[in-house]
Amino acid sequence: MTTPEILSGLVRDLHHVAVAVERLEEARLLYEGALGMRASGDVEFVPGQKVNVLVLFAGTQRVELVEPASEDSPISGFLAKRGGGIHHVAWRVDDVQAAIDALLARGVRMIHTTAQPGSHGTSVAFVHPKATGGVLMELVQDAAPAR
Ligand code: CO
Repeated sequence: MTTPEILSGLVRDLHHVAVAVERLEEARLLYEGALGMRASGDVEFVPGQKVNVLVLFAGTQRVELVEPASEDSPISGFLAKRGGGIHHVAWRVDDVQAAIDALLARGVRMIHTTAQPGSHGTSVAFVHPKATGGVLMELVQDAAPAR
């Protein structure tokens, strides 16, 4: 059996940087106003993470502003402990479940061992920050193109 191509490189490129914010509507004034980034669509509630997400683009580069949607959101704990700031970096993969399985096979600790629904129809999984020197990393598989 040959190794699938997705498992050799695993990570394709940077998908987005996520920034935790207390109040999305306040933060977007900086990103859309002063920095001149473009919002892509409306604020989206992601029930799995209990967050509201706004996707912004600077050229082709993507930033996601993430606001807690409830007190028990993982982002609420992050903000309480560290204040606003960079929350995670997300890597694009072709097949998130295959990437999870490959990382587990390589001994990398995962927060999610199965693919989770992310924003904008993506499938995602988080790598445990203990396995990455403290950087929270997300794996993202884009939604299949609409047809
Ligand atoms: Co993300």
